[in-house]
Amino acid sequence: MARHLITSALPYINGIKHLGNMVGSMLPADVYSRYLRQRGHDVLYICATDEHGTPAELAAKEQGLPVDEFCAQAHDAQKAVYDGFALAFDYFGRSSSPENREITQHFARKLNENGFIEERAIRQVYSPADGRFLPDRYVEGTCPHCGYDRARGDQCENCTRVLDPTDLINPRSAISGSTDLEVRETKHLFLLQSKLQHEVEEWVARHEDDWPHLASSIARKWLTEGLHDRAITRDLDWGVPVPADTWPALAAEGKVFYVWFDAPIEYIGATKEWADQDPENRDWKSWWYDVDTTVRYTEFMAKDNVPFHTVMFPATELGVREPWKKVDYVKAFNWLTYYGGKFSTSQKRGVFTDHALEILPADYWRYFLIANAPESDDSSFTWEHFTATVNKDLADTLGNFVNRVLSFSKKRFGEEVPAGGEPGAAETRLGEEIARLLAEYEEHMEALQFRKAAAALRALWSAGNSYLEEKAPWLEIKTDKDGAALTLRTAMNLIHLYAVVSEPFIPATSAAMRQAFSLADDTASWVTQDEAKALTAVPAGTPFTVPPVLFAKLTDEDLETYKERFGGVTAE
Ligand code: MF3
Ligand code: ZN
Repeated sequence: MARHLITSALPYINGIKHLGNMVGSMLPADVYSRYLRQRGHDVLYICATDEHGTPAELAAKEQGLPVDEFCAQAHDAQKAVYDGFALAFDYFGRSSSPENREITQHFARKLNENGFIEERAIRQVYSPADGRFLPDRYVEGTCPHCGYDRARGDQCENCTRVLDPTDLINPRSAISGSTDLEVRETKHLFLLQSKLQHEVEEWVARHEDDWPHLASSIARKWLTEGLHDRAITRDLDWGVPVPADTWPALAAEGKVFYVWFDAPIEYIGATKEWADQDPENRDWKSWWYDVDTTVRYTEFMAKDNVPFHTVMFPATELGVREPWKKVDYVKAFNWLTYYGGKFSTSQKRGVFTDHALEILPADYWRYFLIANAPESDDSSFTWEHFTATVNKDLADTLGNFVNRVLSFSKKRFGEEVPAGGEPGAAETRLGEEIARLLAEYEEHMEALQFRKAAAALRALWSAGNSYLEEKAPWLEIKTDKDGAALTLRTAMNLIHLYAVVSEPFIPATSAAMRQAFSLADDTASWVTQDEAKALTAVPAGTPFTVPPVLFAKLTDEDLETYKERFGGVTAE
């Protein structure tokens, strides 16, 4: 048994996430956590909403709410969706918590003591009409290179050139549209990442061989470009305040830390939030502080988050000069596209997680998304692919098997698992096949290869179908009643095995399959090789019920309805 700390990138507070966000961080982290728990490991799965920064302020303004109220509501709304997806967080926190403020300020003080923070004066665009400094991306204007008239102060979307807000022709505030802008001098804290370059390089070199290529290649690229000192404070009303004991002047001006400084620290902050709920029994430090060899820490995220997690956050942790736990394994994902185009929160393109649950239960999504996770490459969501996968894998291969076996047995042998004769050659072959596929499934799960794990799970379900076709109990029963009973008992044991091993993917369906059997003692959290070969966990005489259809078959009409509602068009 090992201790596993698991985090998924913190979803930003400003809106309900789409399926691309779900498959690239929280869902695989949940599948992995569930698997490890079933295998008997001590797992702590932590996530939280990422609540600071300008987009949160603007979203609040749009809704006419004070930002703290907006965040409280938006947090609850996201949490409700994640509950709907059956994400079994140990804790889902908030980066605006007092715990995170305390730890973030502590990190900043330590970095300062160790010579990694410096106060510097910079010139920044100020908008009197908005009464605030404007972050680069909230200054808009005409691109000096291509003439695009909606270029942002950090980058031109049209020609992709990186810009400085002062490069823009006819600059205006993206918030109010005001063109009355001035450049003012203001002081900010800079994190001297350049001083940590060497140490981070060494640290990455010691770990990257264990990471998947996607993570290590992005880390390498950033290190090659060099770590630059960067401003870690902002002029905003909402954020972790700069501590007054260390920087009285900046604190008096109301400076707060930049959202990307406090967000990863919230992994620790949320763990403390978790412990603060039950301080007698929970020890947050035992997961984070001075624990190098006892805890294995795995992070889940989409590829755009990799630089922050492989380079920037480790630099922060190293600079603090305290033994904070650093990531062991970085599981990064490519993009899930919607018909080959971008899922877009701002353009409301694609499928949002709340809408997904309005049309179908979580297990349909969980299975499809993980089976098609963008692991080695981007992958595309289409309604055609989704409905075909649901129908083939979930409705036909798994659901139909379960229902056929249980209904037929009930009809012919009553409401208890029939005994039948001794297992023969077909059962031996089946047991060996199941044990082999189970080992494959476990191997892919341990390696965090989710698509391959899903394929192995599907193969386990298929093996049951092949066995049933081969034995054809509906024919067998005419000539050999005992033989048919054996076939059904074996198939029912497969159902129980499916209940156990499918749980990381489809927890609700797994519970329904397991509950079909009234086993006196069903504590099986996993299946051993021997149990897989024997297929005898559910003995003859066990009462059972036939559960309602596990997965509805989706019709052409359903497909058309989905496409119409969500727009199944090819973009770009
Ligand atoms: N909110 C960020 C995003 O959506 C992710 C933050 S991850 C953390 O891209 F490390 F900062 F927490
Ligand atoms: Zn341009």
